[in-house]
Amino acid sequence: MTRDSLFLKTLAGKAAAIPPIWFMRQAGRYLPEYRELRSKAGSFLDLCFDPALASEVTLQPIRRFDLDAAILFADILLIPHVLGQQLSFQENEGPKLDPVIRPGDVDRFRQRDILEPLEPVFETVRRTRAELAPEKALIGFAGAPWTVATYMLAGGSLRDMAVLRQWHYRDEAFLLELIDLLTEKTVDYLIAQIDAGADAVQLFDSWAGGLPWPVLDKVSVRPLERIAMAIEKARPETPVILFPKGVGEKATEYACLGGCDAVGIDYAMDPTWARAHLSGHTAVQGGLDPMLVVAGGERMEKAAEIYLKLFHDVPYIFNLGHGLTPDTPPEHVGALVDFIRGGGLKTK
Ligand code: CP3
Repeated sequence: MTRDSLFLKTLAGKAAAIPPIWFMRQAGRYLPEYRELRSKAGSFLDLCFDPALASEVTLQPIRRFDLDAAILFADILLIPHVLGQQLSFQENEGPKLDPVIRPGDVDRFRQRDILEPLEPVFETVRRTRAELAPEKALIGFAGAPWTVATYMLAGGSLRDMAVLRQWHYRDEAFLLELIDLLTEKTVDYLIAQIDAGADAVQLFDSWAGGLPWPVLDKVSVRPLERIAMAIEKARPETPVILFPKGVGEKATEYACLGGCDAVGIDYAMDPTWARAHLSGHTAVQGGLDPMLVVAGGERMEKAAEIYLKLFHDVPYIFNLGHGLTPDTPPEHVGALVDFIRGGGLKTK
């Protein structure tokens, strides 16, 4: 079934007068209605595994801002959680995965069925798709194998890229084995989301930045290629969006991959460069610095206008260069949507 959706048409390669809009991390703590449901649910994991609540949270930003796409409410760390690393979130400390993964775990994890324990997530997809208007798309997602591997190895967020690179040089075989396992599981997970009703899928490679090229190629580009190609083969109708954060000019490597329908650009990337080097290969998504949405006002609008102008004649999805943060005033998000839908500065 092809949905009559501006978002999906853009992913299919059509430029639109006014681009479709959604925001990474559009559901979350900056919304009072999210905070209310979150406190009712107890823990973040309880929220992710309760299809009624997770579906409600997925729909909250669509109700408030009438966005063109909803993104499934879940987390990239649910795969390690169901593989056997207990996931928890400490206040102001970020995620914790316990215990950290060891070389011997990979074979054991390979035998684990992740689809059965993740069934509540697929039920969230079914419920959300049933409630969404037909012209609104539902995006499924997963973390890219490299990004998920960094959390599995560190037992949480690791901000020091040098340590990440050390793992690669110290025990490359183990790292590549782990990435191979995650690649396999991620394909199964995304196909199950698609079969439950996801119209498109996005892979978040939040920690791809700062890797030397041969390493980036091995741990990020090739695994994402395998995932995109596997989805293209198994579910050819479903577009795949890749968000390799922080990779600079190497974004062209992702844009040219078979099975890639759009590349998300981060806030550090020059949009003029992206227009010149990526748009010929694939649709482009995002770019605007989320901190400009915290700031709001004319600065935000002027910066958004740059993206509208540069990408007006090529397939472009309006989004940010990373996720919305908890300190974002919801009114600024609303003002940004109105600005884009109003056609930018020319109508002001
Ligand atoms: O609208 C949406 O995008 C909601 C679905 C979603 C969440 N996480 C919910 C969430 C998505 C797409 C993600 C992706 C995600 N999760 C990424 C990739 C995107 C990025 O930001 O780089 C990463 C790296 C994670 C891992 C993760 N989950 C971290 C580091 C944290 C803690 C930091 C934080 O923002 O609190 C989470 C928790 C998390 N995931 C929250 C939400 C709404 C906050 C949890 C809470 O309510 O307490």
